[in-house]
Amino acid sequence: MKKYIIGNWKMNLNVHEASLFATKLSQGLPIRRDVETVVCPSFVALQPLSLQVDHRQMKLGAQDCYWRDSGAFTGEVAATQLRGLAQYVLVGHSERRHIFGEHDRDIRFKVQAALRNGLTPVLCVGETELERKEGDTAHVLEDQIVSGLMNVGSDQIDQVLVTYEPLWTISTSGSPHVPQQHELEQVVKIIRSKVTHMFGREAGKAIPVLYGGSVDKDNARIFLSVEGIDGALVGAKSLIAPEFISIVEIASEIAKEEKK
Ligand code: PGA
Repeated sequence: MKKYIIGNWKMNLNVHEASLFATKLSQGLPIRRDVETVVCPSFVALQPLSLQVDHRQMKLGAQDCYWRDSGAFTGEVAATQLRGLAQYVLVGHSERRHIFGEHDRDIRFKVQAALRNGLTPVLCVGETELERKEGDTAHVLEDQIVSGLMNVGSDQIDQVLVTYEPLWTISTSGSPHVPQQHELEQVVKIIRSKVTHMFGREAGKAIPVLYGGSVDKDNARIFLSVEGIDGALVGAKSLIAPEFISIVEIASEIAKEEKK
């Protein structure tokens, strides 16, 4: 199965820096069919990068979108405005949920807005440290999945990606605080069984499930080898070209091994 490596640049790089960085990436990223490489720059860099990047090498994603199609929503960017600029959009990233107070309802509407506009939503789900300690991980994830995908049609579910990004793992690189393989396996099962419950067995099996949280070139193989994990959402290390390229290479190696 194809792997997905998505780089989330967050609020980093101005337009000029983003362009230089994309050039650097393109020099090290061969065109691959077994890995879908996506980078998510800030909104301001999306338009110039949409003209610059070779889409066979890397696709573009937005880090968020608003769910209304147009109107008096100062500061927001609608999914309609991303058409033609991005192919993917992150929805419900934990920084949106926890710093900007996004609710499940907003996230649900954003998933629908993305689909309505031909973008692939990458629905991010994950529990906090406290929820984990209290043994609530399964409940939290199930709620986030049900709520996020509630209004998705059964003919649309094949256009959705899910990323498991527990809050306690984000931005901890240095001494990465990450889930064990068996924990991740367990979580993937929870996510897939919820999707199965909502959309049927085929969808539960086919939906790409990614892991995110302090992924680097040294731990990527571990995560990408977990059964049921189809890729990674990479934050800090997606801003270091050789590191991000290595993660894409590892994903490609694993995709090839799985094919054998
Ligand atoms: P990180 O961020 O890889 O820096 O932990 C991941 C993310 O928040 O998307």
